[in-house]
Amino acid sequence: MKHTVEDLGVFGGRTIFPAARPIGQLALPNREAFFRLVAGVYARRRITNNGPLVQKLERRLAQLHQVRHCIAVANASLGLILLMQALARHAGGEVIMPAFTYAGLPHLAQWAGLRPRFCDVEARSHALDPACAAAAIDDGTALILAVHQVNSPCFITEFEQLSRDTGVPLVFDSVHGARCSFQGRPIGGFGRAEVFSLHATKLLNGFEGGYITTSDDMLADLLRRQRNFGYVDEAATAGIGLNAKLNELHAAAALSCLDDLDALVQRNQRRYELYRAAFAGISGLDCVRYADNGERWNYEFFLLEVTDAFPLSRNQIVTVLRAEQALARPYYSPPLHLSQHCPAFIDPPSLPVTETLSRRFIQMPVGETLQPEDISALADLFRFMQGNAAAIRPRLEAAG
Ligand SMILES: Cc1ncc(COP(=O)(O)O)c(C=O)c1O
Repeated sequence: MKHTVEDLGVFGGRTIFPAARPIGQLALPNREAFFRLVAGVYARRRITNNGPLVQKLERRLAQLHQVRHCIAVANASLGLILLMQALARHAGGEVIMPAFTYAGLPHLAQWAGLRPRFCDVEARSHALDPACAAAAIDDGTALILAVHQVNSPCFITEFEQLSRDTGVPLVFDSVHGARCSFQGRPIGGFGRAEVFSLHATKLLNGFEGGYITTSDDMLADLLRRQRNFGYVDEAATAGIGLNAKLNELHAAAALSCLDDLDALVQRNQRRYELYRAAFAGISGLDCVRYADNGERWNYEFFLLEVTDAFPLSRNQIVTVLRAEQALARPYYSPPLHLSQHCPAFIDPPSLPVTETLSRRFIQMPVGETLQPEDISALADLFRFMQGNAAAIRPRLEAAG
């Protein structure tokens, strides 16, 4: 508990948290299940190259997403590169993508030999705006990369229609749509294909890893070859290959999390509800809600919106939080078109909704390391910042 401004970590006081409170899930695979599977890997000496655990994981994930194919890969980034390269209408073309999303996407488009074309998002859902995407489509458009936001899936119906009308292939970055649904169907079965991550900070923890879901038999076949250097057999290759294989140890980790997935989502929901209750009375802040509309959500993030009524800026709050070991982050800020990730050859467009949103949100600590009392302590800290803003603000400004 802070009594004076001097008690704040940012001014040299003792931090609230003795260890970092991160923004990732960090849900560890079940230890017994994991080591049992690893013992099998040792016994078989089959470490990689499409081993039985990778195949089992693919079967289970295909079932979970209700699709015909799951193609496991070394991480979601490689999955996105493979998919964009495989489906692009023409080499060197543009990938339509939102600018209010994960910073890595523009580079991934470039690895696929394509150029990012940044479009605005819709204000309430934060998802790529179909009207902006439609306006950007021309003969140079290679692909639409729509991204599901954690609080809202894309405008799936509109984008599927747009893709049918224009012939531009549609894929989804579904890293934050894991275990969510749209119109009662699991995310994973829309567009030509969707891509998920198995990174340790994500819902399903394979330490590293990712996978592509699709019901397109030919595409699945091509992707399976491409992730394995393009080999068709020992002599022949198809497509441009690379090594994007998932290995057995990572598959063992992901498999050891699968049975706990729904319980993890429930724990996320509990943390989200605790956050909402703890922050309910603090004026000037709003939390991003998960709609109560019968769809399935993963409650992966807790996002706070800082309005003009709060007496410190979003960035000042983040500075104070991080100094207390609460590793909060400005959410999708700066936006991609104004970030270092924007390729130098692109003239950054004006994207008013994205630019406004990118100034407002904080991604708060979440996940398995966050205890209920941590959430109360964070709410107390916000009340303290609110009550002492007049003393805190000038000192933060002076420190630059
Ligand atoms: C939306 C989105 N797409 C792609 C990725 C990349 O995932 P990976 O780390 O598995 O390559 C991330 C990582 O955080 C992400 O948030």
